[in-house]
Amino acid sequence: MSDESARVSLLWETIQEKEDYPIFRLTYLSSPVAPFTDADFDDIESKSVEANNARDVTGILIADDDRILQILEGREDAVRKLYAKIEADSRHAVIKLVCAVEDEVRLLLTWSMVVRKLTGTPPAVLEQFTEVYDELLHADSQCEISIEHIDLFKAIALFEALPQGVKW
Ligand SMILES: Cc1cc2nc3c(=O)[nH]c(=O)nc-3n(C[C@H](O)[C@H](O)[C@H](O)COP(=O)(O)O)c2cc1C
Repeated sequence: MSDESARVSLLWETIQEKEDYPIFRLTYLSSPVAPFTDADFDDIESKSVEANNARDVTGILIADDDRILQILEGREDAVRKLYAKIEADSRHAVIKLVCAVEDEVRLLLTWSMVVRKLTGTPPAVLEQFTEVYDELLHADSQCEISIEHIDLFKAIALFEALPQGVKW
């Protein structure tokens, strides 16, 4: 197995790792002031990976021109402090915390922060994303991000790296 496919399968597998402390999973949705450029995404990703590793926070960020969905997982205090920074970032026009729950397991174990634009996502998957996004937008703060949601977000994030023939 090549290093790249080993990395992809590690990222793909939703290992439900139990930590020795409760995991706090926070999901927010936002609309950017202006559509992020590729350079903006690269900048957010490169700065977040190191900073999130230091805080032991993992997560994923999926976006298009007017929608951002980000999930943050880790110790509650670390996640809340990071969310306060993100919320204060002037690049958001509107930001809404949609789910904040405690769990025994970390679902995005190996994901320091993966940032992915929806560009190029197959239409059927984009439709599923839109359904989930709209559902979350109207949910209360006790809503849950399911394994199916995580698998959908991972499929979007890993789209270009997935082997040919993977069924959506
Ligand atoms: C959509 C979005 C997502 C972000 N996600 C993260 C993140 O996961 N981790 C992080 O450290 N900063 C993230 N940032 C950057 C923070 O908003 C903020 O600029 C950064 O944490 C500032 O760090 P500093 O206070 O150490 O300078 C994000 C910014 C945006 C606009």
